[in-house]
Amino acid sequence: MNGLTQALTTSSPAPVRPFLAQLPDSFWMPAQASTMAGEVDSVFFIIYWISVFFFAIIVGLMGLFVVRYRRRGHGDQAVEGTPHHSTALEITWTVIPIVISVAIFILGFKSYMNLATPPRNSYEIMVTGQKWQWFFEYPNGFVTSELHVPEDRPVKLTMTSEDVIHSVWIPAFRVKKDVVPGRYTYTWFEAKEPGTYPLLCTEYCGTGHSDMLTVVTVHQSGTFDRWLQESSNLYDTMPPAEAGEMIVQRTGCVQCHSLDGKSGIGPTFENLFGHEFKLTDGSTVVADENYIRKSIVEPMSDIVLGYEPVMPTYAGKLKDQEISYIIAYLKSSSDLGGSAAEPAAADSTEVE
Ligand code: CUA
Repeated sequence: MNGLTQALTTSSPAPVRPFLAQLPDSFWMPAQASTMAGEVDSVFFIIYWISVFFFAIIVGLMGLFVVRYRRRGHGDQAVEGTPHHSTALEITWTVIPIVISVAIFILGFKSYMNLATPPRNSYEIMVTGQKWQWFFEYPNGFVTSELHVPEDRPVKLTMTSEDVIHSVWIPAFRVKKDVVPGRYTYTWFEAKEPGTYPLLCTEYCGTGHSDMLTVVTVHQSGTFDRWLQESSNLYDTMPPAEAGEMIVQRTGCVQCHSLDGKSGIGPTFENLFGHEFKLTDGSTVVADENYIRKSIVEPMSDIVLGYEPVMPTYAGKLKDQEISYIIAYLKSSSDLGGSAAEPAAADSTEVE
């Protein structure tokens, strides 16, 4: 446990619960933490101030006219007829808005194209969205549920979804892009400031939509490769059960499976290993190594009675070695951890 706590604190940042209101930034905007943020903000503020300008003129004149030209008594009549045509005025109010709209289009389109075109030398990270969490896979195959990126280097996200449409949004980087099943979408950014920033799903994707809230950690120049190296090999340096606990934390299993016996979307991990479970098809199964492995790789088969078949597969996301560590952890947190081969007899406590 100490080893785990230590490893968590040295290898990953303190678990930050990112809420927009807690960002260190201006009243209007989150911090400008990517190279593109300034450009995006300037386009936004140009449009914003143009709108303020015309709003003030229109509403101001409207108010002025209402007062100045109000009807003052019963006999009040317009002295002159209403003018109904002015070529000069009509050309002016056509040409000025066209010039403004085209200028806004050019500025916006330039920024959009920059955002849509990752530089060739970008560091590529694969992103998978699924109900209801993110997976980030680095070039060496290491997978995390929080995003880690280097500072001062363009990072390209190649993204897809396992189920429904999700959407990656990193407010501090000013990037937002849908993550769509059956195809790949891309976005990129270059982080300017080491730190931790919120990353969230911004496409309503079901019950756990709001759980798809995680963080991006920007590693200081030159330290990212070392972080990746150390994190990738971390599990080999600790006892299997501790490695397993870290994996269930980091992979997000704990969002549905509690570690302390509390009920959740899925069965708790406490006292699970070695116990008997009734399945939805009426049969009974012992949660041994093979059942656990199968539940991770093919979660739609053999559902425990009382639970919905909602777990996504982790085939390809967890390596065999990592599944073994998880099994080791489940053994360590079960009173039957030592004797899987001999399932508890008639008096077995039914675990929910
Ligand atoms: Cu994923 Cu909302």
